[in-house]
Amino acid sequence: MVIQDPAVPSSDPAATGRVESPEADAYRAALDVIGAVEPDVASHIRGELGNQRSQLKLIASENYASPAVLLAMGNWFSDKYAEGVPGHRFYAGCEFVDKVETLAADHAKALFGAGHAYVQPHSGIDANLVAFWAMLAHRVEAPYLVDHGVRHVNDLSDADWEELRRSLGNQRMIGMALDAGGHLTHGFRPNISGKLFDQRSYGVDRETEMLDYDRVAALAREFKPLVMVAGYSAYPRKVNFATMREIADEVGATLMVDMAHFAGLVAGKVFTGDFDPVANAHIVTSTTHKSLRGPRGGIVLTNETELVEFIDKGCPMVLGGPLSNVMAAKAVAFAEARKPEFQDYAARVAENAAALADGIGRRGGRIVTGGTDNHLVLVDVRPFGLTGRQAESALEAAGVIVNRNSIPDDENGAWYTSGVRLGTPALTTVGMGTGEMDEVADIICGVLTATEPTTTSSGDPSKAKFHLTDDVRDGNRARAAELLAANPLYPTLGAL
Ligand SMILES: Cc1ncc(COP(=O)(O)O)c(C=O)c1O
Repeated sequence: MVIQDPAVPSSDPAATGRVESPEADAYRAALDVIGAVEPDVASHIRGELGNQRSQLKLIASENYASPAVLLAMGNWFSDKYAEGVPGHRFYAGCEFVDKVETLAADHAKALFGAGHAYVQPHSGIDANLVAFWAMLAHRVEAPYLVDHGVRHVNDLSDADWEELRRSLGNQRMIGMALDAGGHLTHGFRPNISGKLFDQRSYGVDRETEMLDYDRVAALAREFKPLVMVAGYSAYPRKVNFATMREIADEVGATLMVDMAHFAGLVAGKVFTGDFDPVANAHIVTSTTHKSLRGPRGGIVLTNETELVEFIDKGCPMVLGGPLSNVMAAKAVAFAEARKPEFQDYAARVAENAAALADGIGRRGGRIVTGGTDNHLVLVDVRPFGLTGRQAESALEAAGVIVNRNSIPDDENGAWYTSGVRLGTPALTTVGMGTGEMDEVADIICGVLTATEPTTTSSGDPSKAKFHLTDDVRDGNRARAAELLAANPLYPTLGAL
């Protein structure tokens, strides 16, 4: 199991008994301390571990962080306010926050080959907000201040400030369509990014379901966006960021790549050259908790020196005080990702996704785009006569956790959907390989084949309700449990 420190004694593989290890001692003590104040919280923390150990986790955006990463979050760094950046804070007493933030940023720069790393964003959405406002400050606000002969927004007249405010809120963006795999934070109306920017989206080719760069270029030429966003949460292929950069340069757009989902594959050198976002984009955002396997958080990276001062104003622009405890955990996670083992992990995440797609395809599932280049597989479940919602629920009943997801031009809309999204980062972390992926594909297809939609009162097939026999459910649950017993989660913790 990759997250196990080789120096730590190995444990009961079923993770049911008491285990002697430094991290088991640490968690036993921590749960005692928590339980003495609010026993229910200690009990829910134990319950969550039990749940995670009893399910085959195929949520593409989730992973299992190491005990070292998790422990780095639970300490007194959490008590400290540290608005500002290292060496330039609005609070006294930040000596060790400065050290830990600098360490996290240095690890991130080395890991991704970035000139600058800002490690304060609390999440992916915050990282995107920092990037959007950094680009707007750089491209719109700063030139306006120069034109008006002032250094600071507070020096503008009320009328000029109003004109600048309108201009900041009147810029254009393009991003990947939601049903092609894009993300709500890339300019869609329910999210603040869609209220801030006038957005148009680019989709995928109807036949191949692959990103069509000619159509991206045509949209960019016609719409002339200030910001071009690339990146996705449900597109199973690699993206040529060098081509995206050529398009952005041609139309004068700033290229932002949101690598929240596939940052682990960038860190692990699965995506290099033209497919490396950091080498090709003006600005890159990411979460740290998905394929990168760190704490829940965000980062912003750039190689453009002109953008650095604006990114570093994330606080006060859109953030308050940083979560110093999480920055400490980011430093630990980035240190882990700089080890050669992480490259091996990232390669296996992609191999496992390819094996899973192949296994499902051979058993009658339709794989969107016909395969995968990354950590995720998008399955069209209509050949099984199901909606994504039914497939998600039937699989959950059998101990397999996935999420329903739209597929391109989805006829079932964003709530019921026609697809499920599967991801391999978590199962790869517990040590599963391509053989296990074939077994997982067999479990998934066995459950989906046996699931029947029920009929509504009007005689139509239901989009939500379904029937699955207890035999099929229990048989597949037992197979999932066998895989989990052979590849236990957090074996060095044992039973807590
Ligand atoms: C591409 C992308 N960007 C941003 C986010 C938002 O991340 P967070 O949930 O940490 O705010 C996600 C999360 O699903 C994502 O997939």
